[in-house]
Amino acid sequence: MTEENNLITIVKSLTGIELSPENDHLITKRLIALKQYFKIDKLSETEVKKILSDPTAQRVAISLVTNNETAFYRDILPFKFLLEILENNHMKANILSLPASTGQEPYSIAMTICENDLKHKLNRIDAMDIDESALEHSIKNGYFKFDLQRGLSEEQISKNFVLNGNKYFPIESLLEKINFKALNILSAGLNRSEYDITFLRNLLIYFDNTDKQKAVDNVVLSLKEDGVLILGNGERINHISMKEMFWNGLRYYIKESP
Ligand SMILES: C[S@@+](CC[C@H](N)C(=O)[O-])C[C@H]1O[C@@H](n2cnc3c(N)ncnc32)[C@H](O)[C@@H]1O
Repeated sequence: MTEENNLITIVKSLTGIELSPENDHLITKRLIALKQYFKIDKLSETEVKKILSDPTAQRVAISLVTNNETAFYRDILPFKFLLEILENNHMKANILSLPASTGQEPYSIAMTICENDLKHKLNRIDAMDIDESALEHSIKNGYFKFDLQRGLSEEQISKNFVLNGNKYFPIESLLEKINFKALNILSAGLNRSEYDITFLRNLLIYFDNTDKQKAVDNVVLSLKEDGVLILGNGERINHISMKEMFWNGLRYYIKESP
């Protein structure tokens, strides 16, 4: 096996993500990162086995091979729709952001709720991702100003983040609404019938059909009846329990009774 194939194998077994051999630029980048971190000359099959058998090495490898690209209020429409749902329903919603990456999505959900005086409509936000270091990022490392400027106004920055050194950290009242938890969407780690609204954006595209189905099944099980599922821009699913709907051009799904 070539090193490139070993990299594809390790990414698939850790995360489920399918890297296509044509994606050689990304594969080379990930390969260099892994070899540098683990101080190895070659990503041999023995090294792959070593990493896969050590939970600490696995956590590091996951953070080195995942793509954490995200932004505050990414694609904006889902957050306007969230507002519409909360304003028009008598709910204390449980909301899931999976994958939450470095926090921009769950913070955008929390800010949408706070800015519109809808705290009484929220029970909690669960923010999950397979990459623990991504989940810890906003609290441990903070954001640079330019990270915040990807989606936030100056007013939103000064209201919701505090400057410490040259990094910005979320304020306590924002943090207290969000529970961060590491989770592989392909595992059976989600509780049944837990969530009213789930953001599942920009992850399914990286899976093959079998893993996509598994991920969607897990998320659908964790939704309450009439629960709402919001996918990434251009993403679609086909699931027996989920009805496709549209709001102002945004495709979303509602969980129907069995
Ligand atoms: C491109 S980001 C999307 C973040 C956010 N939802 C958004 O749309 O901006 C993809 C995230 O999926 C996470 N991820 C990859 N495989 C995963 C898995 N099997 N289970 C849960 N999260 C996973 C990565 O760690 C990464 O943070």
